[in-house]
Amino acid sequence: MAALQPGSIVAVIGSGAMGSGIAQVAAAAGHTVKLYDTRPDAVAIALAGIGNIYSKLADKGKMTGAEAAAARARVHSVASLADVADAALVVEAVVEDLDVKRGLFAELEGIVAHDAILATNTSSISVTAIGAKLHRPERLVGMHFFNPVPLMQLVEVISGVATEAAVAQTVYDTAASWGKSPVHAKSTPGFIVNRVARPFYAEAWRLLQEQAADAPTIDVVLREAGGFRMGPFELMDLIGHDVNYSVTRSVFDAYYGDPRFTPSVLQQELVNAGYLGRKTGRGLYPYGTDHTPQPV
Ligand code: NAI
Repeated sequence: MAALQPGSIVAVIGSGAMGSGIAQVAAAAGHTVKLYDTRPDAVAIALAGIGNIYSKLADKGKMTGAEAAAARARVHSVASLADVADAALVVEAVVEDLDVKRGLFAELEGIVAHDAILATNTSSISVTAIGAKLHRPERLVGMHFFNPVPLMQLVEVISGVATEAAVAQTVYDTAASWGKSPVHAKSTPGFIVNRVARPFYAEAWRLLQEQAADAPTIDVVLREAGGFRMGPFELMDLIGHDVNYSVTRSVFDAYYGDPRFTPSVLQQELVNAGYLGRKTGRGLYPYGTDHTPQPV
């Protein structure tokens, strides 16, 4: 099986940080994109953001003005799930919750064509479990992008127990045709990157709890001396503490409460407070209304 044809329709469900990035990349690659969210204001914000980014790319000479306008014109807001019936590929980027994702795919299964591919951008939930209640779990696959989607090359293509190899290969080839560097992986808790990253976050929280150093110091040390592009707390503020905490919980639960993956109570309190990171204007650090970091 080859990549999806550029003209074919891609539906993106959930227009938050990840969904808007996936829509931007898919439309730039030539697809008509249908963007749906249960919150219509979220879709409107995403569409405005995508338009701005294409304009900036055109200003920087990374695409022509005509290409930017054409790509923007390919992204459409849709008001109901029924409107994605003609999609060849549906990528889900809604909340990191097994029941919500299962419910969504159960509904989608009754809407899309028999040969449409269903993909989940889950960070950590078992792709096998997400697909298990479907009539045709073989067409459900993980298509795991990284944040920010337009800049991050890697896409983990995750096969659940029932995923058909040809479906995974189509998604792999499609990601490559969108300029990404895909990798095949099996559905294990946290897959590759989020599994290996857990100790990075966990040890940073332990250092903070033990008052070894404050968050800015830990971030600077990891960034400047450790060679990481971002420190752990800066990165969690970008990812969103709700998302990051859910991922840790899901890996912890999947490994039968292995203490190595114990979620941080400090992070749980940030989530309780609604200090989710850049997207809410406050996480470990404060952010301006344009989501840029403010001096601390
Ligand atoms: P977000 O909170 O920015 O956006 C989620 C969007 O989904 C919201 O706009 C919400 O209104 C919408 N939504 C919730 N339930 C819905 C439903 N049933 N139908 C349609 N829309 C619904 O979240 P974000 O960060 O974009 O994450 C989305 C997914 O991507 C999660 O599964 C997350 O684990 C995964 N992911 C997140 C990464 C990150 O760095 N934030 C990285 C890779 C994957």
